[in-house]
Amino acid sequence: MKKQNETKNKTTMAGAFGKLLPVMVKATPFLFTVNMLLSVLHSISFGVETMMRQRFFDSAVDVAGGKTGIGWAFLALAFLGITNVACQVLNGAANFLPGVVEGKTSARLSMAIQKKIARLDPAVFEDTEKLDDINKAEQGKNSAFWFVYNVLAILTFYIPYFIFMGWYLFSLKPILVSAIVIIFLPTALAQLIRAKVFSHLEDTSAPVRREYEYYETCMAGREYFKETRILGGFSYFRKLYQESLICLQKLKFKATMKSNLFELSMRAVSTAGYCCILWMLYDALIKQEVTVGAFAAVFNSIGMLYGVMEEVICRHMGNMAASAGSIRNYVNFLEMDERTGQFQAAPGWGDIVLENVSFSYPAGKKEDGTPEPEKYAVKNVSLTLHKGETLAVVGENGSGKSTLIRLIAGLYLPGEGTVKKNGTDTRELAMEALTGQTSAVFQKFQRYQMTLAENIVISDPAADCGESRLDSVCGMAGTEPGEFPEGYETMLSREFDGIDLSGGQWQRVAIARGFFRSHDLIILDEPTAAIDPYEETRIYNRFAEISRDKSAVIVTHRLGSVKLADRILVMKDGEAVQLGTHEELIAREGEYKRLYEAQEQWYKPIDCPAVVQ
Ligand SMILES: Nc1ncnc2c1ncn2[C@@H]1O[C@H](COP(=O)(O)OP(=O)(O)OP(=O)(O)O)[C@@H](O)[C@H]1O
Ligand SMILES: [Mg+2]
Repeated sequence: MKKQNETKNKTTMAGAFGKLLPVMVKATPFLFTVNMLLSVLHSISFGVETMMRQRFFDSAVDVAGGKTGIGWAFLALAFLGITNVACQVLNGAANFLPGVVEGKTSARLSMAIQKKIARLDPAVFEDTEKLDDINKAEQGKNSAFWFVYNVLAILTFYIPYFIFMGWYLFSLKPILVSAIVIIFLPTALAQLIRAKVFSHLEDTSAPVRREYEYYETCMAGREYFKETRILGGFSYFRKLYQESLICLQKLKFKATMKSNLFELSMRAVSTAGYCCILWMLYDALIKQEVTVGAFAAVFNSIGMLYGVMEEVICRHMGNMAASAGSIRNYVNFLEMDERTGQFQAAPGWGDIVLENVSFSYPAGKKEDGTPEPEKYAVKNVSLTLHKGETLAVVGENGSGKSTLIRLIAGLYLPGEGTVKKNGTDTRELAMEALTGQTSAVFQKFQRYQMTLAENIVISDPAADCGESRLDSVCGMAGTEPGEFPEGYETMLSREFDGIDLSGGQWQRVAIARGFFRSHDLIILDEPTAAIDPYEETRIYNRFAEISRDKSAVIVTHRLGSVKLADRILVMKDGEAVQLGTHEELIAREGEYKRLYEAQEQWYKPIDCPAVVQ
């Protein structure tokens, strides 16, 4: 965690620009180049127009004084007209093109987030601080394009324009160059403060935003609303939602007020500077230090210079400053440590050996912001899952079963100890190599709002998706496609004009998905919790048949079904307390016997006292 924070502070805006620019160029190389060229031409046309204006006024004064003929004044007017039209055309292009470039670039920036997410360590999603970073990155992506665009506009349009105007004003009267500095400094200072304020806002508001988005889901999310309504939780969540929304608005209001007040006072300073420059110009004209044409051109240009300066600082730099925090978050996210491994190829099917494996989830934070004490979810477990063996894992709620199987699968890396797949440490395996020949049905399986066929083949889209293969896995999982109105093409979503399934039916689809994936190792985490006992027995019997030549790990609370396993591992408080066959374990005093007997009680006849008439 410390490492991540260090990266966060290190990323400068220049660094962010350097990383984002290549992405933009690659998105639309041609349009991007045209846009830049037009921007430079636009800048030049502004400067040339100022010179043409001076020429026109000077020739008009000369005509009035009888020094030249009217033809020169018309010629100067024609040049002024041409540069003016060129300015307008280039201005139109400068307003239109960025919109086109933005569409294409935004898609690339979004893809970069998705690609990154795919390469992150899955354990990252258990860490609230890192979830915040992902949320912030989504926000930053939207500002990233305009940030790079604004920097480029400053480099290709504003800076050449200011250099030209600086040279022009200097050539007329050196002191006039101070106009640029006097107008620029206070406004730039205001934007610097703005950047700091909004960067801080971004950091403080991300957790609140995540909170209120979650409450929104609790109230209106399809999976939540039934329970929320029936248990009367709606008003409870609405209250929390309102509170977090108000908190967010207060944070935003405070930040906006602070930066606006400072900006207002700085604007007053630069307006005073602007008036001062106008007075100096008037004084220079009276003393005949500048011509009437130069006076008129500069008088006009100073107004424009002030406008352009305001535009660059308030609009462009202001937007950049306001979004600096979120852009930095976007870049930081792209820089986040990835799950890397030197071996890209799957290690091959063999024993999976755990040696003194311990794992703890990232610690949460207490109300006062201090971290919660770290607690082991799995502690010092040593175990060998032999090639082709079926292992059942049992234990009370929270004893570490699901965490252990994620470690066996290689989804999580152990904090201490090693997990070796066919001799290779999971830390050294790339994600694809780890998941290559592994399938799973998780405790919290997903209900994809897609067709029945898609819900199954999603686990192995490259495999044979023909109907006979689908029939085979559906048969094993107890799913009967004939019972669905449109067979495999039935849409499993009410939102997309399809049907919804019962909990048990959904679970069978999830099992079919797990079986569909080609695998050497399959992990089933309470796969039949919502399935009736009759169907459960059938599924397990079929599973025992097909997994005879595979490695398998089954987590279950129903001890009746563990008998199909070769060995049983008993977990308690994160530790592996017993390991053996059902017969071995039941013959000993211990956790397994205690659990087994507790369940057995449910199925024994109860001696009820006779009812007294
Ligand atoms: N995402 C998480 N973040 C923090 N702690 C977690 C997380 N998931 C699980 N834990 C903690 O890790 C411990 C083991 O949880 P695990 O889910 O592995 O238990 P389990 O044996 O599978 O329980 P169950 O039978 O209820 O599914 C528990 O104390 C739990 O509170
Ligand atoms: Mg579990």
